[in-house]
Amino acid sequence: MRISVIGSGYVGLVTGICFAELGHDVLLFDNDPAKQRALQQGVSPIHEKYVPELLARHRGARLTFSSSLAESVDKSDAIFIAVGTPPTVNGEADLSYVESVARELAASIKDYKIVVGKSTVPVYTSEWVRRIMQLNGAPAGLFDVASNPEFLREGTAVTDFLYPDRIVIGTDTPACEERLRRIYQPLADGTYYERGDAVPPPKAISGPPPLISTTAKSAELIKYASNAFLAMKISFINAVATLCESVGADVEQVREGIGSDSRIGRQFLNPGLGYGGSCFPKDLSAYRAVARECGYDFRLLEEVMRINNEQRERFLRKVRHALWTLKGKRLGVLGLAFKGGTDDVRESPAIAVIRSLIDEGCRIQAYDPAATANAREILGDASIQYMNSALEAATGADALLVLTDWDEFRSIDLGRLHDVLHYPIVIDGRNLYDPTTMADWGFSYTSVGRADVSRGVGVQKSSVSTPGPAQRNSDADVVKVP
Ligand code: UDX
Repeated sequence: MRISVIGSGYVGLVTGICFAELGHDVLLFDNDPAKQRALQQGVSPIHEKYVPELLARHRGARLTFSSSLAESVDKSDAIFIAVGTPPTVNGEADLSYVESVARELAASIKDYKIVVGKSTVPVYTSEWVRRIMQLNGAPAGLFDVASNPEFLREGTAVTDFLYPDRIVIGTDTPACEERLRRIYQPLADGTYYERGDAVPPPKAISGPPPLISTTAKSAELIKYASNAFLAMKISFINAVATLCESVGADVEQVREGIGSDSRIGRQFLNPGLGYGGSCFPKDLSAYRAVARECGYDFRLLEEVMRINNEQRERFLRKVRHALWTLKGKRLGVLGLAFKGGTDDVRESPAIAVIRSLIDEGCRIQAYDPAATANAREILGDASIQYMNSALEAATGADALLVLTDWDEFRSIDLGRLHDVLHYPIVIDGRNLYDPTTMADWGFSYTSVGRADVSRGVGVQKSSVSTPGPAQRNSDADVVKVP
């Protein structure tokens, strides 16, 4: 199948290279010449596993690039719209890019095409795209509009695409449905998974993913409702974590107890600083706006957002509680990205927390394995130093704050960390460490939904404790406080 993908941002690029990987001829269109040039030279503009490999595999062969929308349309059977839908000041999705693409497409349609929405858009968008195209001269019988939502997570976007839980195609005519089925056939019939050169599965797979065929409107709703539900799970566990702190329970134990119910499931029940990123915050606001416009006040979503914002405030209170006054304090920070595994800092809780701390007079020394350049663009260099390793960020700091769940941070050498910190205080917004172990190493350790601990104080020994460095040096028993 010949496919055009309009927009080579995160979703567009991953979609384009994955369609090429499935054997289709893909034309990637973007109106940003710098991005086009980089891609043509095989440089991935995003930090995403397997993107460089697949770019190298398909570039110039099944994957080509175009800066002409008319050419892209002319050479394709299916056109996927993957342009940005940023939030407006009212929290609605700004669909002006989608509209201008629809207008331009209309002029170039000469034979039957399907136009497929990949961007996250409100219900009714497919209908609007159809209407705009017709108003701009596209003959009604020569095109259909569909919705094919993506469920890609940054960091695992390629394997999310190639090994999805489900594929949703929202179409309103049999011809359109048939074309989309053919596009996804290698995944839906499992033939892709038999290939020797297939991208390895992230986990054992039990079979090909189900292909769920719906109307375009249902597909549009599925996307928003999925993200809203996941965000709700995160806010739910964060609210439970707050309660755990009040009653002295351990949220990790509670999470295990809840998540073991197969009706609930363990995923997306990690408490912490709350959700961020380019999707959840934007999609929740847009979903609430859409619901309101349709006459329904979806107050549950407001509560999800409120709890999420409160998590950052609660964390800042913990920092103040641990350090008393903040002015002039030097803080080590682990993590700038909105989650581990990505260089993306959009709506990152880490950035919000750092901003507040800088406003309160702290000096920050931060380390992130991938997001430093992006964070620097937002935070600048005043009051913040960007370090080259986690231990460097901790060196001489009055406390260490953990703001992003990078795996690299989990395996930090706790003995050396204790040595390099000015005071052995760790405030963990991602629950990366075991409180018992931290207490044994002599840290004063605060996390989310679990009791604060310091050597021999407040720790609930629920499991076998890891031998710590109690005898490591004569200072170890003394938890210094600022
Ligand atoms: C999300 C959706 O998962 C994906 O299906 C959609 O297409 C795009 O939006 P992404 O934004 O890449 O993907 O990140 P995700 O892994 O979902 O995490 C979102 C945020 O929630 C992150 O800030 C993460 O740290 C936070 N999170 C996630 C938690 O706080 N707890 C959890 O248990 C899971």
